[in-house]
Amino acid sequence: MRTQVCIIGGGPSGLLLARMLHNDGIEAIVLERHDRDHVLARIRAGVLEWSSVETLDRAGVGRRMHAEGTPHGGTYLSAQNRGFRVDYEALTGKRVMVYGQTEVTHDLYDAMDAEGTPVLHGVAGVTIGNPDSDAPFVTFRHQGADRRIDCDWIAGCDGYHGVSRDTIPANVLKTFEKIYPFGWLGVLSETPPVSHELIYANHERGFALCSQRNAMLSRYYLQVALDDQIEAWSDTRFWDELRRRIPEQAADSLVTGPSIEKSIAPLRSFVAEPMRWGRLCLVGDAAHIVPPTGAKGLNLAVGDVHYLHDALTRAYAGDPAAIDRYSETALVRVWKAIRFSWWMTSVLHKFPGQTPFEQRIQEAEINLLEVSDTAKANLAENYVGLPF
Ligand code: FAD
Ligand code: PHB
Repeated sequence: MRTQVCIIGGGPSGLLLARMLHNDGIEAIVLERHDRDHVLARIRAGVLEWSSVETLDRAGVGRRMHAEGTPHGGTYLSAQNRGFRVDYEALTGKRVMVYGQTEVTHDLYDAMDAEGTPVLHGVAGVTIGNPDSDAPFVTFRHQGADRRIDCDWIAGCDGYHGVSRDTIPANVLKTFEKIYPFGWLGVLSETPPVSHELIYANHERGFALCSQRNAMLSRYYLQVALDDQIEAWSDTRFWDELRRRIPEQAADSLVTGPSIEKSIAPLRSFVAEPMRWGRLCLVGDAAHIVPPTGAKGLNLAVGDVHYLHDALTRAYAGDPAAIDRYSETALVRVWKAIRFSWWMTSVLHKFPGQTPFEQRIQEAEINLLEVSDTAKANLAENYVGLPF
C-alpha cells in the first residue's frame, strides 16, 4: 500500500488530522490498535477550548457539538467549602464548550465513514521504518496478514503508550517528567449535574471536581492516594466523600445515583522534545501529557493537529521548510499548557507531607484569585486557551 500520510493511532488527534488532510485533498490512512467500540468507550476529556471548537468547525465536524454541547462562560473555584466564580467571558471574551471526547471521536468517525478515509482497526506490531530518510514506511499485521505502507510522512498520534516516540533515537529525544503523588478517581453517573458550571474544589481532605457531559450525565472526580484500589470505593463512599469536599450548597443539592463508569488515573506532566524526527512527527499524547486539572490534554492534541496540518499542506504546496518549524512552534504552546496544568494542580491539591508554610501559600494563591481580577484573568486566559 502507499499513501501520503500514514497516521498511527485512531484517537482524537489521529482522526482529526486525517479529516483535515482529506479536506485539503491529501491522502491518509489511519492505523488503530483497538476496535472502534473500545476507542469510543474511553471516558476522557470533557472541556474544549474555543480554538478547539473552531478547529472542529473548520474540519466540518462541529454540527452536533453545537447542537448538543454546552458553552460555559465561567467556572467555580472553592477552598474549604467556600466558593467564588471566575467569569471567563467577562475577563477574556471567550467561553469553553463542554462536550465529551467520546462525542468528538464519534463525530470524527462518522465523517471518516462518509468520506471513505480508511481507518484500519485491530492492527498489531506497528513498526516505523526509515523515518529519517525520504522513503519512510510502516509495517504491521492486520486481519492475519503482514502489511506495509509506504508514505511521505508518518504522524505518531498513538498516545503516551504508543510506538512512535520510542522510534526516535535516545540520543536525539529529550524527555521531561513530573509524577504527582496522587491520582484522580473519576465517576460517571446518569444524574443531573450538581451545578450549571464546573466546580474545582480545594479541600484539606483533597481536591474534588464536579463536571458534566449533559443535562443527565455528570462526571465527578476525587483526589485519591496513588495506591488506592477502585474496589475500596463503593458508590456510597464516593458520594459521601464528594459531599465533604465541595461547597455546602452544592453538597446539599447533589443528586446521586449508580456509577456507570469508575476509574483511577495517575497524574503526570511529560514532554518529549523534539516533536519531529525526519519524516516522523509526534502529535498529542504521544509527545506530551498533562495532569487533567487544567483540562488541556485533548486541547493540546487539537493544537498540534492544527500546526501539523498547516505544515503538511504547505509542504505539499511547495514550502518544505514549514515542516521544519513544526516541533518548535508546537512546543512553545505545549510548555505554556504544561505550566498552567502544573500550577492548577499545585494550587488545588493536597500534597502528602504538605508543610504549614506550603499550606498557607496555597491558601494565599486561592485568596488572591478570589480578590484580584488580574489573577482571575490570568487563570481565565489560560483556561479558555492561548491562541494558536
Ligand atoms: P489517545 O487518545 O491516547 O489516542 C491514541 C490512540 O492510538 C489510541 O486510540 C490507541 O489505541 C492508539 N494506539 C496506541 N498505540 C498504538 C499502536 N502501537 N498502534 C496503533 N494504534 C495505537 N484530558 C482532558 O483534557 N481532560 C480529562 O478529563 C482527561 N481525562 C483523561 C483520562 C485518562 C484515563 C487519560 C488516559 C487521558 C485523559 N485526558 C484528559 C487526556 C486526553 O484524553 C488526551 O490528551 C487525548 O486523548 C489525546 O488524544 P490523542 O489522540 O493524542 O491520544
Ligand atoms: C471532565 O469533564 O472530564 C473534566 C473537566 C475538566 C477537567 C478535567 C476533566 O479539568
